[in-house]
Amino acid sequence: MTEAVAAASGEFTIGGDLTVRRLGYGTMQLTGDGVWGDPRDPDEAVRVLRRAVELGVNFIDTADAYGPFTADLLLKKALHPYADDLVIATKAGFARTGPGGWEPIGRPAYLRQQVELSLRHLGLERIDLLQLHRIDPEVPLADQIGELATLQQEGKIRHIGLSQVSIAQIEEAAGTAPIVSVQNLYNLSQRDDEDLVEYAEKNGLGFIPWFPLATGELAKAGGPLAKIAESHHASPSQLALAWLLKRSPVMLPIPGTSSVAHVEDNIDAAKVELTQEEFDQLTAAVG
Ligand SMILES: NC(=O)c1ccc[n+]([C@@H]2O[C@H](COP(=O)([O-])OP(=O)(O)OC[C@H]3O[C@@H](n4cnc5c(N)ncnc54)[C@H](OP(=O)(O)O)[C@@H]3O)[C@@H](O)[C@H]2O)c1
Repeated sequence: MTEAVAAASGEFTIGGDLTVRRLGYGTMQLTGDGVWGDPRDPDEAVRVLRRAVELGVNFIDTADAYGPFTADLLLKKALHPYADDLVIATKAGFARTGPGGWEPIGRPAYLRQQVELSLRHLGLERIDLLQLHRIDPEVPLADQIGELATLQQEGKIRHIGLSQVSIAQIEEAAGTAPIVSVQNLYNLSQRDDEDLVEYAEKNGLGFIPWFPLATGELAKAGGPLAKIAESHHASPSQLALAWLLKRSPVMLPIPGTSSVAHVEDNIDAAKVELTQEEFDQLTAAVG
């Protein structure tokens, strides 16, 4: 039975036609150590994905690189055939050189191969949102975005997004094809990209903060939010996510977890509404 808890986080429309609930889920914790290979408990990974959707999540962030392909195959196993309103955002362009190893490769033939493989592994005919995982400094950006635009014209990609970029890079990429979202490191304790959040809001781009829980630092017992959380009758993780949701209407947090208990805790953050005073208190207390 669906309990649409995530609906309380509100909605955002990506690229003018893809409406999602703002509080989503990210699949990077569903692999082995170093984001490599199978997770310790693949059955729990399947349960996590199904529980997220049961709780109303309809925006899931993944990448070819997670495993590689482990997370995508788990997604397909857990949720295919997908609900009509489920939006899977994936990425390409960050090759894996081993556990913990990552290397940007933006050559058009490689990007095409990874998009084709993602379609197959995810069991999709079209990818709703394809994010260039990293810009490859060795390849002209117009060639990288140009290949994604060609895949878009072929009907294999619906929208194009970017990951870990500057405003100048967004503007340069937008000279080749429309850019609808940006995914950068951002959370309550890591706010270097405030200007990018403002830019995304002003230009109607979705802002997908990666490491929304600072890789768990903000969620843990004894962490910087633990004391404040007690007085709010919320968990630390819920406060970190509620802060992000209040920060901007274009904010789409995608907390990652390998456990059903944590996915339930995180999605309940949709119901935590901070007053402006509480938001300011958290902003001042952490950072
Ligand atoms: N674009 C990029 O370059 C990029 C880079 C990194 C990540 N991402 C995306 O961003 C998503 C989120 O990042 P992330 O998963 O690495 O980091 P995160 O969401 O900031 O934190 C995940 C960590 O927090 C723990 N955690 C989650 N919920 C918790 C809870 N309620 N209580 C206590 N601990 C909790 C998890 O452990 P448990 O598994 O034990 O719950 C895990 O160790 C990824 O899944 C991925 O989709 C993108």
